[in-house]
Amino acid sequence: MTMARELFDRVVHGVTNSRVWRSFFRHGLPDNDLDRSLTITSNVFLHLHPVRVRRSGLRLTYTWGLGGITFFLFLVLGVTGGLLMFYYVPSVERAYDDIVAIQSAIPFGGLIRNLHRWAAEGMVICAFLHLCRVFYTGAYKPPREFNWIVGIVAGLLTLAESYTGYLLPWDQLAYWAVTVGSEIAGYTPFLGAQLRTILLGGPVVGQPALIRFYNLHVFILPFTIVAVLGIHFWRIRKDGGISGPPPGEDKEQG
Ligand code: HEM
Repeated sequence: MTMARELFDRVVHGVTNSRVWRSFFRHGLPDNDLDRSLTITSNVFLHLHPVRVRRSGLRLTYTWGLGGITFFLFLVLGVTGGLLMFYYVPSVERAYDDIVAIQSAIPFGGLIRNLHRWAAEGMVICAFLHLCRVFYTGAYKPPREFNWIVGIVAGLLTLAESYTGYLLPWDQLAYWAVTVGSEIAGYTPFLGAQLRTILLGGPVVGQPALIRFYNLHVFILPFTIVAVLGIHFWRIRKDGGISGPPPGEDKEQG
């Protein structure tokens, strides 16, 4: 063994046996089933995945990866949205000009904005297709009926994100879309007027509406979606991983 190799091994040994390292990674490389299982359950990220998965659940043509793609698009939205926030100011005097500047003057602004818009459209479409897949494979049946409801909530929050984002460019399309949308909310039985006022912060679409939509769009809704998806993913694990054909048929179809 060369000296360099010996030194390398010593450093690795020293680091992986230090108290700091072991406070992050509680197990060494697992070489038996018990240690493998402990490694998974003591790590929050690995813990989200089930320890065992059905062979059928891994088939691309079973899930089409649609839930995963929807989640990926949500992450893209988070990153691109965070970048847009460096330039966009939610004020009726500035919002429209800021969007024009992002689109035409700021380096890569057009790219980031378009990525944000395409990912938003994609997320709505993929969430809907994911819902169709879950329905078609009967994955809403017990024990997954609660996760179906959690999914519906995640889907509705996704639509709310889409709707609140629509006002932010503060152009004619945004203004009138939200005017019409809030008029519709105003026709809700019994609570219509109050609902419209809560949404707009006043009788018409103006500065209070813009700041409300902005707050919902960049803070309240995204963080609620993160929490709801946390439950969604945890539930998949607790319900025994991705659904599949009844036991016995699994082998033939795997
Ligand atoms: C809005 C964002 C959503 C995200 C990011 C998401 C993500 C996921 C992921 C990653 C999975 C694992 C399997 C797969 O990829 O298909 C999954 C499973 C599941 N999702 Fe969603 N989902 C969302 C919305 C929904 C909606 C709208 C519904 C239905 C109303 C739903 C119901 C379910 C159910 C029941 C499962 C378990 C399926 C099975 O075991 O086969 N989800 N979801």
